[in-house]
Amino acid sequence: MIVTIDGPAGAGKSSAARSLANRLGFRFLDTGAMYRAVVFAALEQGVELTDADALEQVAAQLRIELGDQSVLVNDQDVTRAIRTQAITSATRYAADHPGIRALLVDQQRAAAAGHECVTEGRDQGSVVFPDAECKVFLTASERTRGERRYHDLIARGEQVTLEEVLEKQRERDERDTTRAVGALIQSSDAVVLNTDGMSPDEVVDRLYEIVQQRR
Ligand code: C5P
Repeated sequence: MIVTIDGPAGAGKSSAARSLANRLGFRFLDTGAMYRAVVFAALEQGVELTDADALEQVAAQLRIELGDQSVLVNDQDVTRAIRTQAITSATRYAADHPGIRALLVDQQRAAAAGHECVTEGRDQGSVVFPDAECKVFLTASERTRGERRYHDLIARGEQVTLEEVLEKQRERDERDTTRAVGALIQSSDAVVLNTDGMSPDEVVDRLYEIVQQRR
């Protein structure tokens, strides 16, 4: 069984999807981490993010390993390093690149092959796993999403204001929903879950129920 969880930034997808996968005993794929990892590696290698060909080369040669709690890139642990605000903003160079999307989509399908899997991103139900048995569109209001991300960043010691976070989130939402390939769309066969006012545990409980109804 494949469970896809798509939705906008800050809806709480990653932590909810990871907990759900643990509870179900399924493999977990954090596909946003893969786009982040490409940009992180390019910056480390001194590659210009605007050089589309060079960026694709970086992606093609990268070995990304998504662990339960960690992300390794060519054996280097980048779990925290790929979550900074700077990487978050720059990730669009990888996400907007059709060639890199094609590479990563292949890797995502390979990672799920032969496994029961919870996979999380923007295009999982629409493009990567159109035949998934269970599709969820996880969302929340702009304000709730911005506040969650703001508290996350502050807890990690970043210097940001809520206004800045909301502004960047609007830009990211715009990019995510309008990119030519792999744009965030709500599949007609996805269950919509709005997490406004729900605790993280309540979100996981509800997701678990949704999956059980489809097993
Ligand atoms: O989910 P996360 O915030 O880690 O994703 C980072 C960026 O990667 C997002 O802003 C989105 O643009 C992109 N992304 C994507 N397709 C996916 C997952 C993430 O384009 N499947």
